[in-house]
Amino acid sequence: MAKESPEIILAGIKLSRQLATPLYLQLYEQLRAMILAGRLRPGDRLPPGRNLAKELGVARVIVSQAYEQLVMEGYVTGKTGAGTFVAEKLPDHLLNATRNGQVPSKATAPPVKPLAARPAENAQTGSRIEAVPFQVGMPALDQFPYKLWQQSGNQVLKNFKQAHLGYEDTLGCWNLRKAIAAYLRIARAVTCEAEQVIVVTGSQQGLNLVVECLLNKGDKVWMEDPGYHGARIAFTNAGVIPCPIPIEADGLNVAHGVQHFPDAKLAYVTPSHQFPMGCTLSHGKREQLLDWARQQQSWILEDDYDSEFRYEGRPLPSLQGMDTGGRVIYSGTFSKVLFPGLRLAYIVLPTVQMVNEFKRVKDNQDRQSPVMEQLILCDFMEGGYFLRHIRKMRLLYAERQQQLLHLLQTHLKDQLRVSVAPSGMHVLCWLPEDIDMTKFKEAIQKERLAIAFVSYFTIQYKLSPAIMLGFTAYTKYKMKVGVEKLVLCLREACP
Ligand SMILES: Cc1ncc(COP(=O)(O)O)c(C=O)c1O
Repeated sequence: MAKESPEIILAGIKLSRQLATPLYLQLYEQLRAMILAGRLRPGDRLPPGRNLAKELGVARVIVSQAYEQLVMEGYVTGKTGAGTFVAEKLPDHLLNATRNGQVPSKATAPPVKPLAARPAENAQTGSRIEAVPFQVGMPALDQFPYKLWQQSGNQVLKNFKQAHLGYEDTLGCWNLRKAIAAYLRIARAVTCEAEQVIVVTGSQQGLNLVVECLLNKGDKVWMEDPGYHGARIAFTNAGVIPCPIPIEADGLNVAHGVQHFPDAKLAYVTPSHQFPMGCTLSHGKREQLLDWARQQQSWILEDDYDSEFRYEGRPLPSLQGMDTGGRVIYSGTFSKVLFPGLRLAYIVLPTVQMVNEFKRVKDNQDRQSPVMEQLILCDFMEGGYFLRHIRKMRLLYAERQQQLLHLLQTHLKDQLRVSVAPSGMHVLCWLPEDIDMTKFKEAIQKERLAIAFVSYFTIQYKLSPAIMLGFTAYTKYKMKVGVEKLVLCLREACP
């Protein structure tokens, strides 16, 4: 059976008996304006005349006359008994028409307040429906255990109670906070209890909460250079000053930070797997960093976004687990280990008192993260599927990383120098120094490759041209096609 177009509820129609314009014409004008502005779309069903008349407090004939006028002019189509619908195809001259300035053109719309500059050069930003190599940080969505997730979803719906429809705890569903704390204690050596965990709507919200609760405009923060643009944007949007700290083979140059910006209020770091360079912060530097924070009473924000994916040796414990001074705020996300559309992440704070302060701020941001998703995730974790999925993905990603390295070695060994870490979701490739970047960017756009440039993540310290190739979301075949396209792009851009 053909799906019926649902009836539209029309908000905002105002008819006045004080005006000289007849009521039916007022209604006609307003409906027409809605169609021209795109508020009513082709195929939308208008409310039955008697319903709309009742809602507006006018005689039914007023609505009939307005509808007839719209039918006559081609804006809507109507058949007795079948309903009245916005015409599927509006003639161009109708779409271009404006009357009484009711339809603002895009050109006259007020500009939105610009956010911190985000260069358009990064081919990997923006949502992609189709998986295009080599998007960074995208999990293997084709391998997601849909059935098990569905099972958890069914379980949640079966036990869904009235209580879940109201306002949940701003800090997150209690059982989920417990499951996260238990996971972090075991898998990441994080020292925490459930009371210290706050469930947030994506790690960007966690970052924004930290900024709002702990920093003031004009405060300095250490920012890895190159480093995660999401953090940089959270800082600059709040008027906080990111102080670039160079990255070395064993991670952040802590001594540089201590020497040049000793009074910074916070250090943002990705110690397990530096984003984007992929290195790990050495033990010695971790101690140095913790000492600085303790002495200065500054904060460390540890973003542990993809540490689960380590393909050799034992998983590295978190920096938070080494902290005895209560200076580390730990941040993690489900975007990499499960899927980014979930929009659930967490932060772990050193004290319950801080949790209560953060609670007030989150309350004003989004009140709480969506309950249904939290409950499903909780069931998924409690059922053991979460750990099982991570284990499975770790093996798969190790294999995919090897496949990509093999392809690069076979097809591009003379053009690309590859930096490999046995971890993470992307490999870093250094481009030839004499590459024509404009031509290269044009070529990758033409080939529809999603490639991130390390330069996008740098603040001050210029590096040789380098790209990041994500491997986790792609089969061997897709990566082969991607590498072949990359060969063409490099051929166009290298002398
Ligand atoms: C360093 C870093 N942190 C966090 C995230 C994840 O953010 P979210 O939880 O908002 O998806 C990413 C995603 O690419 C990242 O690269």
